[in-house]
This record gives sequence, C-alpha cells and structure tokens, in this order.
Amino acid sequence: MSVKPEAMIQSKLPNVGTTIFTTMSQLAAQSGAINLSQGFPDFDGPQALREAVGRHVMAGHNQYAPMTGLPALREQVAAKIARSYGRQVDMDSEVTITPGATEAIFCAVQALVRPGDEVIVLDPCYDSYEPSVELAGGRCVHVPLALPDFSIDWQRLADAVGPRTRLIMLNSPHNPSGALISRAELDQLAALIRGFDIYLIADEVYEHLVYDGVCHASVLAHEELYARAYVVSSFGKTYHVTGWKTGYVVAPPLLSAELRKAHQFVTFCGITPLQWALADYMAAYPEHVDELPAFYQAKRDLFCDRLAESRFTFTRAAGTYFQLADYSAIRPDLDDVAMAEWLTREHGVACIPISVFYQQPPADLRLVRFCFAKREETLRQAADRLYGV
Ligand SMILES: Cc1ncc(COP(=O)(O)O)c(C=O)c1O
Repeated sequence: MSVKPEAMIQSKLPNVGTTIFTTMSQLAAQSGAINLSQGFPDFDGPQALREAVGRHVMAGHNQYAPMTGLPALREQVAAKIARSYGRQVDMDSEVTITPGATEAIFCAVQALVRPGDEVIVLDPCYDSYEPSVELAGGRCVHVPLALPDFSIDWQRLADAVGPRTRLIMLNSPHNPSGALISRAELDQLAALIRGFDIYLIADEVYEHLVYDGVCHASVLAHEELYARAYVVSSFGKTYHVTGWKTGYVVAPPLLSAELRKAHQFVTFCGITPLQWALADYMAAYPEHVDELPAFYQAKRDLFCDRLAESRFTFTRAAGTYFQLADYSAIRPDLDDVAMAEWLTREHGVACIPISVFYQQPPADLRLVRFCFAKREETLRQAADRLYGV
C-alpha cells in the first residue's frame, strides 16, 4: 500500500504558509508598484562597513567564528550598551552574536519553553514568535494591545498571566505600530510578574529608531527585568544591512548559557567576515547609532508631511521605520488585505495589512503599514501616489 507523503508528514506548523511579506513583494513586482511593504532599506549600508567585509574576506577571515561570537564584536556590543543604557555587561558570559535577531528569538524560546508552557504575546506581533513557541511545544496566549495607540492593556495582560505562563514577549519600538513602551510601563510589568517564575524576551531590534527626542526605555536599563530577560537586537536594522542577518542577544549568564545550548546546534555561529566588519565599523564610528534617530525621522517626516495632505489619517510613528495609516475615509468597504492589494494594483504603492499580525484582528481595523526606510525620491514618489488615492 502506498502512503502519500503529505499524509505521513503531519505538519508541526500546520498554520504556517507563505508570509504576507513575500506575497506583497511579489504583487509589488508584478504590478510595478513602489514597494513600501517589506521592512528593508532601498539604500545601502555605510560604505566603510561594506568595504570592511571585502577586506576581511581577502584577509582570510572565512572560517567558523567562535560559537558565542567574535570577541572584538562582543566587546563593541558591550561598549555600546554601557554608552546607551549605562549597564556594564560581561561580553563573555552575557553577549551572544547570532545569525539575525530571529535566530536569537528562536533559541531563547527553545531555551525556556517546555511542552505545555504558555507564552504571552501582545498582538499585533512579529510573525516568528508563534512558530518558535509551537516548535518548543508551548502555546501562545494572545493579548491584544489597546487601540488606538497600541499601548499595553494592563487588565487583559494581568488576566492572561497564570500558573502555566513561562514567558512574555515584549517588542519596543513596536512593529508594526511604531509604539514605544515607557520606563513607567516597564516598572508596571516588573510589579505584575514579581514573585512569578516568568521570563521575558525583549525584542528591541529597532532600539535606535526612536524619534522626537524620546529615549528608548530598554530592558537593559531595568535592573529587575533584566535579571529575567533576553534582550535581542539586530545589526541588520541598525546598519541598514538586513540581508546580513546578523544580530545579538544579551542576557544574564545563566540565561545566556541555556540559550547557547540551543544556538550551538541551530547554527553554531554567525558569519565570520560580517562580524569582523561590524566590529571594525562600530569601533571607528560609535556615533552611528546616535545619528540614526535624526536620519530616519527626516524620512518619516518627508513621507508624513505629504501624506498629511491626503485622505489617509495617522499619528506619526514614535519609533521603528514603519508608519501606520488609517484609510477609513477612502475605502471603508475594504478589509486591510483587500486594501493593500488594491493600493498595490491600482495606485502603485505596496504596503502591509496589519491584520496579519493578529490572531484575532479587530473587526473594524482599517490600517495599513508603510515602510519609510527608503530613499527620498522613493518616499516622495510613493507619497505623491498616495495623495492621489
Ligand atoms: C520586531 C522584529 N523582530 C525581529 C526581526 C528580525 O530581525 P533579523 O532580520 O535580524 O532576524 C524583525 C525584522 O523585521 C522585526 O521587525
């Protein structure tokens, strides 16, 4: 008797299909639309950084890096954390370089989550969290953020915490809304989970993309929360090189040791010449991260100043390189997936519907997400097209 392979496989991730990012980027390419959907810059990272990769490849830095990451890069990460957040972390026992923030999140989840554990995620949330939890045998408990400002709904969060809660996933600055978690909210979270055996993953990949003079409230600067946290970041976002898929995770020594057990057998190490190049660049240009807020705020404002004259309504993003826009005044008849497709096909601007970041999207959600990590002419052209909608 022959058995069909699909009957034998019994997928462990039956709900995972092609992501909306792939779908919208394909539609953008087919329609010749300006692609403001997927979150990546349409400009290159710093020239000195790119040149350093070539130099290190030619210098023979092409074999495995240490499992925890190149010491020179971990040293730069520790120095940056001291400068930005006033925390002295130990580069050997607390900093791990990973092939992307996604791998760091995956390994942190594998380190902590046991079969039957619950993980609280705040919707809308980044799409890698749930599959990572499911592969570890855990279950996500989805708590929606409060609209319209995507703040934490403290009552709903408190109600979701229970004896099986193992982990809470935080993301600030928040994709897709751009909202920030404040220091006072971190204090409130610390009070909520005090006395429970609950850990945190703080996804802070947009840590340096915070605008209007506001400071990012990092879990790294919060003594009590850091003691039970993995704090994740991404060189891809900070240095405009998302394709390098290089990130890092910072955690107290015992948590780092557990994460490294997983990381060792998922990828073992990050890419060697990229780590060398990043270490050189961070040492030579420590001011890069301080210049990022003004760099991206100018892009946000260029896009938003023009969009303000259109029929879209919005509040300017406080962080990240994403801008949400409400289209209720334009096509209230369309749900956000249909709206994103319509905008791409009919008006030549691709965006992301935000319902895909929810387990249960609010019924009347009329928001789409535009990525403003683009050159000025791309943003001008896109905003002109949206003005005409
Ligand atoms: C919230 C969030 N977390 C993690 C990542 C993944 O970062 P990386 O490309 O370094 O894996 C992204 C990328 O879009 C993101 O938006």
